[in-house]
Amino acid sequence: MIPQPPAVDPALSTALAARVAAVRQLLNEIVADFSPVAFASSLGAEDMVLTDLIVRDGLPIDIFSLDTGRLPPETYELIAAVQRHYGLIITLYYPCHERVEAYTRQNGINAFYESVELRKGCCQVRKVEPLQRALAGRKAWITGLRAQQAATRDGLPIRSFDAANGDGGLEKFNPLAEWSEREVWTYLRLNHVPYNALHDRFYPSIGCAPCTRAITPGEDIRAGRWWWENPDSKECGLHVKRA
Ligand code: ADX
Ligand code: SF4
Repeated sequence: MIPQPPAVDPALSTALAARVAAVRQLLNEIVADFSPVAFASSLGAEDMVLTDLIVRDGLPIDIFSLDTGRLPPETYELIAAVQRHYGLIITLYYPCHERVEAYTRQNGINAFYESVELRKGCCQVRKVEPLQRALAGRKAWITGLRAQQAATRDGLPIRSFDAANGDGGLEKFNPLAEWSEREVWTYLRLNHVPYNALHDRFYPSIGCAPCTRAITPGEDIRAGRWWWENPDSKECGLHVKRA
């Protein structure tokens, strides 16, 4: 399940050390070649690994989060914990209030449960548009995506060109693309990295409060995200594949 005990398996420690070294090298190369660069953090477990590595190396990478206005209290608590732990204030981007007002006046406060179209509309207003502002003027962005997280992420590359964002596109890096969930949690435990309290309550993947639930043993790690939808539609628009 979600949190794992500290690594005792020497093979895991060796593999993890190699993974960490590779990510640190990649992050340094991204800074050298693609500044200004930004890291999108949802404060999820993977994002906390990357935050720890970025802070550890003092890298000039802007760490931002999209505050949709519907995040669970535990995520806000973690934003504050990151500030206490690292002395780091994560840059927050908010939706345009005019767009939120128009959406909720037309559709209601929880319209995302009614159809995939209305759900994607809410994500567009609360996440995608703010993401575009966060990435304006950047040469690259970094995410905590992993290939094993979902069918929609199968074959996820470490590096690709994101034509959908930035000013005419920008590089997109997923440094943890090949990491396993076990490796993520081993890193967090070994390095005493703060993490979202919801992870200990069977929430392996965390987004907005009304669109995230706990999973039960045996369920897919993203089963608690938009659980009323078909797995094939469960992306919010932050990670679109456009040539
Ligand atoms: S989502 O598209 O389904 O919401 P997920 O929660 O798996 O994505 O997170 C994958 C990656 O997308 C995160 O590691 C992070 O890089 C980015 N991301 C997702 N939500 C946010 C957010 N609210 N703010 C910033 N980055 C985010
Ligand atoms: Fe809206 Fe839910 Fe998308 Fe959050 S995850 S932006 S509440 S539809």
